Amino acid sequence: LAKPELLKHTGELLLGVIGDPIAHSKSPVMHKAALAALGIPGAYVPMRVSREQVGKALEGIKALGFRGINVTIPHKLEVIPFLNELDETALKIGAVNTIVNDGGYLTGYNTDGIGYVRSLKEEAIAELKGKSILVLGAGGAARGIVYALTLEHPDRIYVANRTADKAEALAAEWKALADIRGMAMDGIPAILGEVDVIINTTSVGMHPHMDGTPLDSERIPPGIVVSDLIYNPLKTRLLADSEKKGCVIHGGLGMFVNQGAFALEYWTGLPAPVEAMRSAVLASMK
Ligand code: ATR
Repeated sequence: LAKPELLKHTGELLLGVIGDPIAHSKSPVMHKAALAALGIPGAYVPMRVSREQVGKALEGIKALGFRGINVTIPHKLEVIPFLNELDETALKIGAVNTIVNDGGYLTGYNTDGIGYVRSLKEEAIAELKGKSILVLGAGGAARGIVYALTLEHPDRIYVANRTADKAEALAAEWKALADIRGMAMDGIPAILGEVDVIINTTSVGMHPHMDGTPLDSERIPPGIVVSDLIYNPLKTRLLADSEKKGCVIHGGLGMFVNQGAFALEYWTGLPAPVEAMRSAVLASMK
């Protein structure tokens, strides 16, 4: 770690997250644990910023010498006009969740999709090449994930959404990157037989509506990989149903931890202490 580079103003690495609301973010607890594990003196602060103040907030980040920030709902698109540069992934997805400040030059990244895929590969399925993947949902989260999945060279990606138009638009936008097919939810039964991995990106099943599931239990193909971005609860009804069918299940905590891990790696240039980060988040959920 090049200390003079990173710890510019006072010897402390300044990091944080902007969003609105922000009080319930688990990012501070996770990144504080990461800094402690790495032995880097610093701070990671949650900052509630209204839409109108996003530009000024980024000026403040520069003036105060923050090394970087995360950006969460509802500012992932709002911040873009105020950045000097977007990396390829953020540009393609059209949303930013991580900003690196190089002496006043701000670069935007998106680590949500790549964080998700790293977690999926480490925890559930090592190789996605040649696989057939069904993504449920076509919103902001699905966008990041589908883009990151295309980098893994799957055989085919189906995107099924309640509003079929959105799934078809996503498929059309990235048709050069992979064989992506958009469809309505009622098209799912016809393709389930060829699917190796199912990924839920919708909010169906999230706390406090934990009875909900985006796919009826009897439809879940036995023995495949089923993944859910939701991490509250840690095991959604979809995952519990899938487990009963002998599927390999993968919850959303790993995505959250790994999007943070990639962000920390961009800020520090060091490998993130992923297990310390995961433990801190889990402990804060008890
Ligand atoms: P996020 O950033 O979490 O993806 P979003 O962009 O608002 O949030 O997208 C929410 C996704 O969940 C969409 O795919 C949405 O489907 P629509 O495009 O049809 O709205 C999906 N979703 C939310 N609630 C749903 C429900 N009750 N049933 C099915 N899909 C739902």
